[in-house]
Amino acid sequence: METVVSGIRPTGNLHLGNYLGALRNFVKMQNQQRCFFFIADYHSLTTHPTPKDLHGNVKNVLVEYLACGLDPEKATLYIQSDVPETAELYLILNMNAYVGELERCTSFKDKVRTQPNNINAGLLTYPTLMAADIILHKATKVPVGKDQEQHLEMTRTFAKRFNRMYNVEYFPEPVAYNFGEELLKVPGLDGSLKMSKSDNENSCIFLADTAESIRKKVMKAVTDAGPTQPNETKPQAVENLFSLLKLVSKPNVVQHFDALYNDCTIRYGDLKKQLAEDMAIFVAPITEKIHDLASNDEYLHRVAKLGAEKARESAAQTIKEIREIIGFKSF
Ligand code: ADP
Ligand code: TRP
Repeated sequence: METVVSGIRPTGNLHLGNYLGALRNFVKMQNQQRCFFFIADYHSLTTHPTPKDLHGNVKNVLVEYLACGLDPEKATLYIQSDVPETAELYLILNMNAYVGELERCTSFKDKVRTQPNNINAGLLTYPTLMAADIILHKATKVPVGKDQEQHLEMTRTFAKRFNRMYNVEYFPEPVAYNFGEELLKVPGLDGSLKMSKSDNENSCIFLADTAESIRKKVMKAVTDAGPTQPNETKPQAVENLFSLLKLVSKPNVVQHFDALYNDCTIRYGDLKKQLAEDMAIFVAPITEKIHDLASNDEYLHRVAKLGAEKARESAAQTIKEIREIIGFKSF
């Protein structure tokens, strides 16, 4: 049996990109494999949230995990900071991570460019914390979206380096996983290549959005003046709408609008109306469960407690073994 680990940072509500790129696969994997799904709250400290926001966002993600169908009996569902063993492994990995390789990481370089006033050590060492999350349970498969590919590559580097350094075959080399398919990158409504809350909230459809707010956002989505030649290549923003349609609508609906585009008779208003309707149908069952779960604090408490216990058991075993390997032996 494979061991699976993945997590999402609690920075607000989850969007369709998170769901289609990652969370949907968590749900599919929990039936067959040994799964650990967590809420990456240590990671979110790089943005310095207030205690109230942090706690509220952890709750949002926990509720949304459950609303999407994660089953705390099948998978281990936990909050990262409930498992401090994560921090110990992070410290150990940092000792063998080179500043140069961390500085070359694309997500770090993006942050240096976009938020030069808050480049903290946590951002630089984000990949070692992520590697610690994954190898803490000796995972082999990590369901994530395409943007996480490089972090997985770095995780393999750190795992291999540990094995080589201590001459052991202890950590497996985990891979990003999407059931043999290309990793997914869900585009944004703003013409961007990635629906992302951290880049632009307006590019996102959230799982907790009402049909009305979905309609408003989709109607405002970026397009162009429309095709003037038959079979024209679609500009990025229009291509995005078609990609989103492919993810939530039936194939014949996509074919219908594609044909209208190709003979230059498409009306973007109609395309958007259809997309908004199909997105609303897609998220409705999840939204309903979000509302049911959000007020059930007692259940959420039980889920988090059970997850913490199961995750710590696995983590403690790994930490015990690597302490031995490293030479932290008790007298
Ligand atoms: P955001 O970019 O909105 O801050 P995160 O970086 O917290 O989202 O993403 C959490 C998980 O969701 C990761 O596995 C990531 O790969 C996946 N994910 C986020 N946005 C997308 C997207 N647009 N397409 C595919 N997967 C995505
Ligand atoms: N870096 C991931 C993101 O931004 C979140 C994450 C943290 C993660 N630790 C992980 C994903 C471990 C998979 C495995 O989305």
